[in-house]
Amino acid sequence: MFNSKVMFNNKVIWITGASSGIGKAIALNMVLNGARVILSARRKKVLEDVKKACLQRGAEEDDILVLPLDMLEQDKFPAAVKQVMNHFGAIDMLFNNAGISQRSVCLETDMSTYRTLFEVDVFGQIALTKQVLPIMVKQASGHLVITSSIAGKIGVPFRTGYCAAKHAVMGFFDALRAELANTSIKVTTITPGFIRTSLSENALKGDGSNFGVTDSDIANGIDVDDCAKQIIKGFIKGKKEIVVAGRRELSALRLKRFFPNILFSVIAKIVTKPAATKS
Ligand SMILES: NC(=O)c1ccc[n+]([C@@H]2O[C@H](COP(=O)([O-])OP(=O)(O)OC[C@H]3O[C@@H](n4cnc5c(N)ncnc54)[C@H](OP(=O)(O)O)[C@@H]3O)[C@@H](O)[C@H]2O)c1
Repeated sequence: MFNSKVMFNNKVIWITGASSGIGKAIALNMVLNGARVILSARRKKVLEDVKKACLQRGAEEDDILVLPLDMLEQDKFPAAVKQVMNHFGAIDMLFNNAGISQRSVCLETDMSTYRTLFEVDVFGQIALTKQVLPIMVKQASGHLVITSSIAGKIGVPFRTGYCAAKHAVMGFFDALRAELANTSIKVTTITPGFIRTSLSENALKGDGSNFGVTDSDIANGIDVDDCAKQIIKGFIKGKKEIVVAGRRELSALRLKRFFPNILFSVIAKIVTKPAATKS
């Protein structure tokens, strides 16, 4: 087994959703392990701040590339990949992490909102992966990562679109792992439970507007830096699926596997409305 410095030193790691939450925490931890990092998300100014934080952790200027990217603008992906290759000449890991959640009941959710969730959480990840995979095949090495969710295994209210999207990417990347089994390209799915980030604040309401509120579940979730460290530990152990979750979500996963009908009743009883702690 490698240690994290040996595993990631000088590796080129492209992280989407790097402006906040899990993506930012992964970037900051990867830099400590000597990785060279591409930071992608929509907000350039915030990415520049993440870059500054990376430099403060000892990264060299040239080792951090800020590359703004909107997962909805998939026609711009080929140029983005070219820019990465011109800068670094290789991509060792693509960490598909950008994502948005949802807080609305099905009856009040516009089809356009469902389509946005799928474009960002599913098609954006597939489209970028399809651009990067041929490079990894040519390199005869690489690591594809997708941040799915416990919502990719369990359906919960107010997130019909989000759960559908996370189930979809889980299926896509599990199938891709099987296709790549006889190559040296690895595929890892990340399955977080509740992690303390801006996810619910940035979630979409039925009409596509911002939910703007932190759920109590998210507010009481796992610290995002601990989450990043657990993910990196999982990489070192060579895990194909890395679950980062509290006891409640882990119990729910077990129930889904062995006693799904009990889980469906439990979820129906405990969840009545999206709980908020602050606006
Ligand atoms: N927090 C949790 O409890 C939890 C649980 C399970 C799974 N996850 C998953 O973890 C991933 C990261 O979420 P997070 O919790 O860290 O939430 P977050 O703090 O809201 O971060 C989401 C990231 O995605 C980026 N993003 C959103 N829409 C985008 C778009 N159209 N194009 C490009 N980037 C976009 C955001 O950057 P910009 O706004 O700058 O574009 C931000 O960097 C997501 O896939 C989420 O579904 C989170």
